[in-house]
Amino acid sequence: MSDITINTLNEMKRQGEKIAVLTSYDASFTRLMEAAGVEVILVGDSLGMVIQGQESTLPVAVSEMVYHTKNVARVRKQAFLIADMPFMSYSSTAQALENAGRLMKEGGAHMVKLEGGATQLDAVSGLTANGIPVCAHLGLLPQSVHQLGGYRVQGKDDDSARIMREDALSLQEAGAQMLVLECVPRELAAEITRELDIPVIGIGAGSDTDGQVLVLYDMLGVTMDRLPKFCRNFMLQADTVLGALEAFVQAIKDGSYPSVDESYR
Ligand code: KIV
Repeated sequence: MSDITINTLNEMKRQGEKIAVLTSYDASFTRLMEAAGVEVILVGDSLGMVIQGQESTLPVAVSEMVYHTKNVARVRKQAFLIADMPFMSYSSTAQALENAGRLMKEGGAHMVKLEGGATQLDAVSGLTANGIPVCAHLGLLPQSVHQLGGYRVQGKDDDSARIMREDALSLQEAGAQMLVLECVPRELAAEITRELDIPVIGIGAGSDTDGQVLVLYDMLGVTMDRLPKFCRNFMLQADTVLGALEAFVQAIKDGSYPSVDESYR
């Protein structure tokens, strides 16, 4: 397979071909994911919880994101590689530029992801003006867990749904080239996906987004905590880890994941 770029992903959106995205934090899983046909790898700050054993993503440092991104980038052959900007690493445009620059130059990321809507427009336009591609993230923002009062579905009432739609359009206008929607009612996610030209990747956002992402350890049944209803354990029907990753890609491509029961209303 040839290198997957943002143009490939835009074309997949235009053609209605679903995009398979997974988090990875190391070389071995990255190799398996590429063998299974995963198109986009996200070095998520979820590594704070699943690798470091932290209670949230908040303690993750930029240097730790750079380290894990490097380990993935070293063996990556074709997947598009996104790295998360951790909590408090983009609170001003200057700080965002410095830290995103490290994730690209030292880590080898192709794009950085940051959480938030209207408050992040300056950071998004500053980064894109400097040649740093940005994936925005709306809905449940794990870095704002204490402000949100827990990990809850977002955009359930008319006002919050309207604000999310407006934020999505403003982020695209500011230069964001991709959007992650986390824990959002499926109708709202479908509407935002239709309204935007950029690829929209869902996690707990129903099956009508342009692609799906899951945390690797959740979809392999490694995570021992109680998981939200959108997480499917793909190991249950597979003999090998590679088989589970292939089943994940297949279920996204044929639209069978997520089901209605794995989505929010
Ligand atoms: O950190 C992460 O893994 C993420 C995904 C859950 C989207 O942001």
